[in-house]
Amino acid sequence: MKVLVVNGSPKGENSVTLQTVYYLQTKYKESAEFLYLHAGQRIHSLEKDFQAAEELLKGADLILFSYPVYTFLVPAQLHRFIELIKEHGIDMRGKYATQISTSKHFYDITAHQFIQDNCDDLGMKYLRGLSADMEDLLSSRGRKEAEDFFAYILWNMKEGFSEPRRYVPEHSQKEKIIEESLSREFFEKSAVPASDKRIIIVTDMEENAGTRLSCLISRFQKAVSASCEVVNLRSFPFSGGCLGCFHCASNGVCVYKDGFDTYLRENIQKGDAIIYAYTIKDHSMGSRFKMYDDRQFCNGHRTVTMGKPVGYLVDGNLESEENLRTVMEARAQVGGNYLAGIACSAKEAEQLARRLEYCLSNDYRQPKNFYGVGGLKIFRDLIYQMQGLMREDHRFYKQHGFYDFPQKKKGMIAAMYLVGAMMSNKKLQKKISGKMTEGMLMPYQKVLKQAEEEATKAGKKNE
Ligand SMILES: Cc1cc2nc3c(=O)[nH]c(=O)nc-3n(C[C@H](O)[C@H](O)[C@H](O)COP(=O)(O)O)c2cc1C
Repeated sequence: MKVLVVNGSPKGENSVTLQTVYYLQTKYKESAEFLYLHAGQRIHSLEKDFQAAEELLKGADLILFSYPVYTFLVPAQLHRFIELIKEHGIDMRGKYATQISTSKHFYDITAHQFIQDNCDDLGMKYLRGLSADMEDLLSSRGRKEAEDFFAYILWNMKEGFSEPRRYVPEHSQKEKIIEESLSREFFEKSAVPASDKRIIIVTDMEENAGTRLSCLISRFQKAVSASCEVVNLRSFPFSGGCLGCFHCASNGVCVYKDGFDTYLRENIQKGDAIIYAYTIKDHSMGSRFKMYDDRQFCNGHRTVTMGKPVGYLVDGNLESEENLRTVMEARAQVGGNYLAGIACSAKEAEQLARRLEYCLSNDYRQPKNFYGVGGLKIFRDLIYQMQGLMREDHRFYKQHGFYDFPQKKKGMIAAMYLVGAMMSNKKLQKKISGKMTEGMLMPYQKVLKQAEEEATKAGKKNE
């Protein structure tokens, strides 16, 4: 059986993820032949000549995507490789596919779903992949998990099994947007007073006034009172996608000399709010937009737009792109941005404009949900351990109180010891257990009482 390893890491053979694949190769020598395509590292030459890649893809029984999770998804280079498979119309139907990633498990789910969705598009037989922590291969548990995973893949292939398809490709509401946006009445209704705020619209749209995306953007611009500035990523001369070299870790300076860092600070960070506008491509935002996302790694784990409201103008059938919706919400949550909305039609663009203005004028901050809280806890632990290298991140995390380790809450821990000791005493247990709920409410009651007192005081003042 031939396994083609599509290595999406820009580090080529130096990829951490690839070491797990090498490990499996030694373990499964007898049952599989492993071939390698370093797609992440060789993406520029593959763009010029895809012939050899095509032959490798066609000759394989199993395509094994091996890659690092980059910013909620796969690296921009692997996005591009998938675009190339589609652009060249390579027939992948009926071929098996699976994936191995390494990461810190920070949004590995959306990266895996991205690969699965694209395998579905290509008519491949997809089998659930392995998402490993960077250190897993170093432990016997991690090695066993990898071995068991591959044995399971081989068994599924022998049985002819694969995951059910998840993606529904048909578009439902496509042309609606242009019609709505050309409606005269709609334009007039949405006239709003001017404000001194500035909104940056980051897009990768083609400079063509007739596209759905450009209609969405102009619809948004018409409905908003703040001044809007469009920053088109197409005009930025990217030298390439993030290489994952960690050169930027200590001083924030990227190895590329294309001026991206300055571009980011001078063009995007200046805005009071940011709107991202793109057309859905291969269940994502397309490789150029993804390159923009990945390259922000030069700013470490400190979002350049922290605290600013954001929104999305999305051209495409978002209804069937649950994964992409998760990525957008989760990015905003972890970045400390309020997600004012995701708009796919002219009406939704107007609503987004209104909400964004509300956030700007009221300085509204959205409370964090699981995506934000969970994500930041992973980063907190990571940066704390890596503080010697990631100095800027460490300073920033300290400054912003991100190090909320439970070990610091000594009073709370001591109180729980006390309650635990009391509860282990049978006599006391009987007495206390009925009062537990009341006890838990005590701190809240204090707050309520204080609020009551403040209200009474304010009432008396007004009299
Ligand atoms: C640009 C960039 C973005 C990253 N984004 C994530 C992420 O979203 N989630 C995560 O858990 N790890 C993330 N990482 C960490 C990598 O996934 C991790 O270091 C991986 O093991 C590297 O694998 P490789 O050596 O095969 O390239 C990111 C690293 C870089 C350089």
